[in-house]
Amino acid sequence: MRKPFIAGNWKLHKTVAESVALARELAHGLADVKERDVAVAPAFTALASVAAVLSESPVALAGQNCYPEAQGAFTGEVSPYLLKDVGCRHVIVGHSERRQLFGETDGFINTKVKAVVGAGLTAIFCIGETLAEREEERTFSVLEHQVRIGLNGLDATSMQHVIVAYEPVWAIGTGRTATTGQAQEAHGFIRGLLAEMFGDVLAQEIRILYGGSVKADNIDALMAQPDVDGALVGGASLKADEFVRIAAFQNL
Ligand code: PGA
Repeated sequence: MRKPFIAGNWKLHKTVAESVALARELAHGLADVKERDVAVAPAFTALASVAAVLSESPVALAGQNCYPEAQGAFTGEVSPYLLKDVGCRHVIVGHSERRQLFGETDGFINTKVKAVVGAGLTAIFCIGETLAEREEERTFSVLEHQVRIGLNGLDATSMQHVIVAYEPVWAIGTGRTATTGQAQEAHGFIRGLLAEMFGDVLAQEIRILYGGSVKADNIDALMAQPDVDGALVGGASLKADEFVRIAAFQNL
């Protein structure tokens, strides 16, 4: 059985004070959360303060990005090692905004996944097709390319520390969620690919999250899909009530 995972990606939002206030509400609202993992990814500047607020809470801390070296002359970058030091357990890698706005390639993302896992953290490895790619019926070939290169060279032990997030680019921040059928179809395809690459047993254990306009009113239907194991939530993770409700999804 795969334990559901709900992660909030706060992106470039919230001052330290605002982040602490939201973390306090989440620590309260999710104090009794069970049978699912929950994490939030604040801006780097707020990580230390949010870590202190969440230290007694079941809500884990995640980084939004990293550079794939432990330390060195890399001005402006943050390593998995430093994220771990500040209390992170997970790092989002290869988000479509990193790919599209900052030119991150599949190969570079692969080095990040390896660095994150090598530091003892979990990589939340993001993939997803653009609207043009979907309309050209290239969704599966794009996903396959992203998965094969992004996870190239990872062994079975490392893959136990990788979570895949399927985030169709056309659904991110647009209010346009994939239908449950579209999400399940993509997740099923990704799991089949993981089975080819890493074997059936491991593929059944790897969690595949859906991301893209997840909200309180669509989470239950998404989580009812057999291969949807959780969600990566952007906009709706900035409001405590909404995120608490998402984390409290019902799929029984
Ligand atoms: P959204 O973002 O929920 O605001 O669509 C999702 C994401 O980018 O992870």
